[in-house]
Amino acid sequence: MSMCPNVLILLTAVGVLLCYHGFFTPGLEIFASQSPMTIQAFGVPSYAIDYAPLIWLDVNEKYFPSDMYAQVANTNPMVNFTVVDATQSPLNLDNLNVLNLFGNDGKDVFLTSILDVDTNPEWLNGVVPDASGKTNDATSCAIIVNDHGSGMVDVFYMYFYAYNQGNTVLFHELGDHVGDWEHNMIRFRDGVPQQVWYSQHGNGEAFTYKAVEKEGKRPIGYSARGSHATYATAGTHDHTIPDLNLPRGLIQDYTSKGKIWDPAKSAYWYTFEAETSSFHNVDSKSPLGAMYFKGQWGDEQYAGSDPRQDDFLGFYKYVSGPTGPQDKQLNRTKVCPDNGILCIIRDSLGP
Ligand SMILES: *[C@@H]1O[C@H](CO)[C@@H](O)[C@H](O)[C@H]1NC(C)=O
Ligand SMILES: *[C@@H]1O[C@H](CO)[C@@H](O)[C@H](O)[C@H]1NC(C)=O
Repeated sequence: MSMCPNVLILLTAVGVLLCYHGFFTPGLEIFASQSPMTIQAFGVPSYAIDYAPLIWLDVNEKYFPSDMYAQVANTNPMVNFTVVDATQSPLNLDNLNVLNLFGNDGKDVFLTSILDVDTNPEWLNGVVPDASGKTNDATSCAIIVNDHGSGMVDVFYMYFYAYNQGNTVLFHELGDHVGDWEHNMIRFRDGVPQQVWYSQHGNGEAFTYKAVEKEGKRPIGYSARGSHATYATAGTHDHTIPDLNLPRGLIQDYTSKGKIWDPAKSAYWYTFEAETSSFHNVDSKSPLGAMYFKGQWGDEQYAGSDPRQDDFLGFYKYVSGPTGPQDKQLNRTKVCPDNGILCIIRDSLGP
């Protein structure tokens, strides 16, 4: 998609100006509780629990971690904006993969909000973690262990939010979508954490475990306001949204020490077997259908003619929801996903 050079220059200039916004000064006491986890996750190595990341949500966050089942309960599965009759109703997290029978093996299925998103349905707000960091009555994380053998084990901590609010660019809010999956991955060798991946938009950043901020043993992540991109530091982060090739510096994420979230306190637990691309739940409460569902966890991008849509220089207010954990390259060679972008393992923290 092409933009005229004048517009590009203007956008770049504004972006540079925006870059000089100051950094947050953390004002709140760090989450201090070191109490042992109350969860039982049989079949998962104890270090996957001991080293589970803690996430700071932004002080101005409006869209909190959310219950995975609430996403199913508040949506209809649609292909090309038409509800599919999944025959096996009601849908739940155990049977969600029946949707893979529709729309190109499920890939064209969108879990579409029953209520008009523009009316701010309450379920999109998610659940504010309690003082201990737990999202009560909401399972908002899926933890997936991939044992590569020879002592190498990757643990994915997949974070779920019902809604992604995009960044505002020149008074236009761009890149909103229903459903949002972000993650950390920790690569262990013989039970010792080596590297940590932080997902951010289409890619992310990798650090040595030694470099990252920790509370006790547990790596700290910062979830960006609205977009929930997961950063290793608090402050302002400029980035370019994938599929929106705007100049660097124009679109910014903000992270700060608002509410602490302890995703492992309300999580489903799985192991992943690469050879067969299969998931195993490690307790009977962790539903498998949700892991196999190949579709999107939110609405399909609204047409330009839809009154809810804003088309700004070919960039849209509403874009399509994301695919789930199964589509996040669970069997990686490196700690980064294999996407043609250089995998840099940073040994010091930076924005
Ligand atoms: C989607 O629906 C529209 C309108 O009903 C139709 O014209 C179009 O062919 C459909 N597209 C696909 C890929 O089925
Ligand atoms: C999984 O990843 C490992 C690298 O750790 C690789 O050797 C193996 O072939 C991969 N398996 C599959 C099924 O892709």
